[in-house]
Amino acid sequence: MASSSVDLIITDPPYGIEGDKLDRHYNRDESFVLDGYVEVPSIEYPQFSEEWILEAERILKPGGSLYIISGYTNLIHILNALQKTKLEEKNHLIWKYNFGVYTRTKYISSHYHILFYTKKGKPHTFNTFARYADHEKSVQGGSSNYSDREDVWVINREYKPGKIKNKNELPTQLLIKLIQYSSHEDDLVCDLFLGSFSTAKVAKGLNRKAVGFEMSKTAFDYQIQEFNNIEEGYLLKELRKPPKNQFINSGQPITIEIQGEIFKSHCNHLKQGMTKKQSIEKLSEEFGRGYWSILRIIGDSNNLRTPAST
Ligand SMILES: C[S@@+](CC[C@H](N)C(=O)[O-])C[C@H]1O[C@@H](n2cnc3c(N)ncnc32)[C@H](O)[C@@H]1O
Repeated sequence: MASSSVDLIITDPPYGIEGDKLDRHYNRDESFVLDGYVEVPSIEYPQFSEEWILEAERILKPGGSLYIISGYTNLIHILNALQKTKLEEKNHLIWKYNFGVYTRTKYISSHYHILFYTKKGKPHTFNTFARYADHEKSVQGGSSNYSDREDVWVINREYKPGKIKNKNELPTQLLIKLIQYSSHEDDLVCDLFLGSFSTAKVAKGLNRKAVGFEMSKTAFDYQIQEFNNIEEGYLLKELRKPPKNQFINSGQPITIEIQGEIFKSHCNHLKQGMTKKQSIEKLSEEFGRGYWSILRIIGDSNNLRTPAST
């Protein structure tokens, strides 16, 4: 592949834990699992990781993003390899899944690591409001955007009884989220270890271009047909469309004059009998800025006296 040609890489390399233990990872009937997972001997894992991670760095465009999904066993080798690149660490996400490996004498392992790195040289794509607008609230009352962007994700694996699958398919919802935040339509998304082509299928479903590699001919021959049958952009119809952002002035400098206006308006709200919280919500609408930014300006105004009471 040409250098600097890919916008986004999402990849889940072979585990290096010897393939025959993989069924224990998923605690399930293996009869529908497609044969042909190519494993990497654990002794070769450090060298293997270095080689493919350097290639990933080379093919990424400046500003491109790389997400590596890894279990704990060989995480150290992936991290060591990443340290040998010039890629910039953005996040270390934790993905909590169901069907962890059952153990009696220690805790049950039920999470993966998702390492998010970008290539320097241009600003990286991060569509902060692709899924939730700045003012949207969850049922608990917190910011939906904030909680969607926290770095611990609870996403269940898909249960596909009676369907042909790869040993370790990534959930569609996980891939949708990564692709929505870190790419645009028509961008090129690469998966160096395609397996069931889950990344490529979701990328195509979101109207991105897809490219990748798979060593297992059995897996490749089966999945390429499925991939070819997918309708471009079919997942776009299912995505929720967030409303427009309300905090249109967020990130703009707050002059002394604006601070004064916010403060004056806050006093008026209190005079009208609003609580502090109600006033902040109103100010946030009026001045197009987030709750916390308003709170910083009005400070601890619990003891504010309205002109009428002074
Ligand atoms: C953990 S799986 C990927 C699973 C995939 N993300 C999915 O959702 O189905 C790793 C895949 O890498 C393949 N593989 C192993 N060595 C490879 C290599 N050198 N190049 C390309 N693919 C390889 C394995 O056959 C396996 O299908």
